[in-house]
Amino acid sequence: MVETGLVYRTPGLYHLVLWGLYRGRPRDRFAAVRQEVERGDTVVDLCAGTSLLYEALAGVAGRYQAFDLNERFVAALCRQGIEAECRDVRTMEIPPADVVTMCSALYHFHPHCLEMLARMRASARKKVVVVEPVRNNANSPVPCWGAFARWASRVGDNPVDFHFTPDSLGLLLEQVPGRKRLELICGGRDARLVLEN
Ligand SMILES: C[S@@+](CC[C@H](N)C(=O)[O-])C[C@H]1O[C@@H](n2cnc3c(N)ncnc32)[C@H](O)[C@@H]1O
Repeated sequence: MVETGLVYRTPGLYHLVLWGLYRGRPRDRFAAVRQEVERGDTVVDLCAGTSLLYEALAGVAGRYQAFDLNERFVAALCRQGIEAECRDVRTMEIPPADVVTMCSALYHFHPHCLEMLARMRASARKKVVVVEPVRNNANSPVPCWGAFARWASRVGDNPVDFHFTPDSLGLLLEQVPGRKRLELICGGRDARLVLEN
């Protein structure tokens, strides 16, 4: 079983942390993904975590496929009847879908985020939708708090020493070719990045 920080031990604990971080509104960022999905679109959700995006897409999306490295999260999704597989997104072949999405996980792929976005785009028939935190506790200058946040949210041998800011996400986007949009959401805590095909 992949070694994870406290935050990822159970879906319930993870939801509690989200609830605190998003001041009681943990579903807002998933609603921001739903706004980009048209009725019947197939969706591939990379680093899916728990069922929050699946629930946000209920009645809108067609086939929904979730992929995550964390066996506990994947087992919980499967128990809910959601199509989910335990896979390492760094190496898996991304299945084709109308919308390929990733919420709050692009930082795990630093310094290979551009390659990750290119792989997602190659599998997306319509668009890639990424929601990424840009105001992070892990970037906190408060002594020990940033280090604690990074320790508590680690996953396997993935280092999580890097987290985006609005500036660093903007710089990354400048290097992405083609049609693209970036906007702040959730009161500036997250950014939504859309790459259109
Ligand atoms: C902050 S959580 C985000 C979960 C969910 N998308 C959300 O927005 O609530 C990051 C997720 O990325 C997963 N993850 C990290 N590295 C991964 C990798 N290489 N392959 C697959 N999943 C990975 C973790 O297991 C975790 O569930």
